[in-house]
Amino acid sequence: MPALAQKRTRPGDKGSATRDKLRKSLLKWYDRAGRDLPWRLREGRPDPYRVWLSEIMLQQTTVAAVAPYFARFLERWPNVEALAAAPRDDVLGAWAGLGYYSRARNLHAAAQQMAARGVPDSEAGWLELTGVGPYTAAAIAAIAFGEATNVVDGNVERVIARLRAVETPLPDAKAELRALAGELVTADRPGDWAQALMDLGATVCTPRSPKCELCPWIAECAAYATGSPETYPRRALKAERPRRYGAVFRIEREGAFWLVRRPDKGLLGGMAALPTTEWRDKKWPRAEVLKNAPVAGDWKKAGVVEHVFTHFALTLDVYSAQTAPPNDGWWGDASALPTVFKKATRAGGNE
Ligand code: ADE
Repeated sequence: MPALAQKRTRPGDKGSATRDKLRKSLLKWYDRAGRDLPWRLREGRPDPYRVWLSEIMLQQTTVAAVAPYFARFLERWPNVEALAAAPRDDVLGAWAGLGYYSRARNLHAAAQQMAARGVPDSEAGWLELTGVGPYTAAAIAAIAFGEATNVVDGNVERVIARLRAVETPLPDAKAELRALAGELVTADRPGDWAQALMDLGATVCTPRSPKCELCPWIAECAAYATGSPETYPRRALKAERPRRYGAVFRIEREGAFWLVRRPDKGLLGGMAALPTTEWRDKKWPRAEVLKNAPVAGDWKKAGVVEHVFTHFALTLDVYSAQTAPPNDGWWGDASALPTVFKKATRAGGNE
């Protein structure tokens, strides 16, 4: 068989030619249009501590929300030893408002593991640390150590589902999308590749109105060719979020609130909080609220707070009283409180 014909009919060649073209155009786009983010260095080797801290903060959280927290953490704890030596409650307090608080507990635990055993330099090593899952281990290994890992987050899933017009709905499509993303990874610039895909997903291939005319992959994108790229990735119908109800107890004195620490396990574990009833699926009548108050007092309903967590929506009645505080707890300001309790400190015109 003539060499040329043989070459043309080998499927691997066609695949790798497409891959190389996709890689080249996206990396070129990234060099020009990639975001200037505080944890990215234009020169030199990225600092693994910064990369780890940013990747943990960026889980389920936007770049805009993360940036000021990242700056404050770095200033206060510039390296892993400093973070490991910090009191845990200081770290939880500095995380207040960023959400998903198990990340802060795990961050502190992992800092102590690294201070004791050293900073890992491979995907497998990072996976052993508390709070570091497959996505984060792959991202850190690629960005900080140049390992050719397959970094797949929600942004990357969306980009790949569109590029290939994958019809399988999420979450079933996850393995397929991961395999398709993996076909594009090589040992050339793995950290830039991962971040180029993320940036494309965050700035161009956005969930609702993708800016396809700015996309380096417009000519290759199978979803664009269908005329409705925004309908990818396909999704299984989501169950509606259940609603829960609770009451919080606000005791205020000169701008300070009586705070308690939540149990380590469970939602908002280990965080400072206002005292609260249990959060359950039926409303709390006033008489029952009063029976559950942390201390007797002239409790008056001051307002209502709505807050949406990942797995449920919460309606909290805010009760306040001029009363001596209970035994357990301390006076503190609202700054170290998770958002749901911050809202409760302000409810009812108490801004
Ligand atoms: N989201 C999570 N990690 C990111 C990164 N390194 N760059 C951009 N977006 C991200």
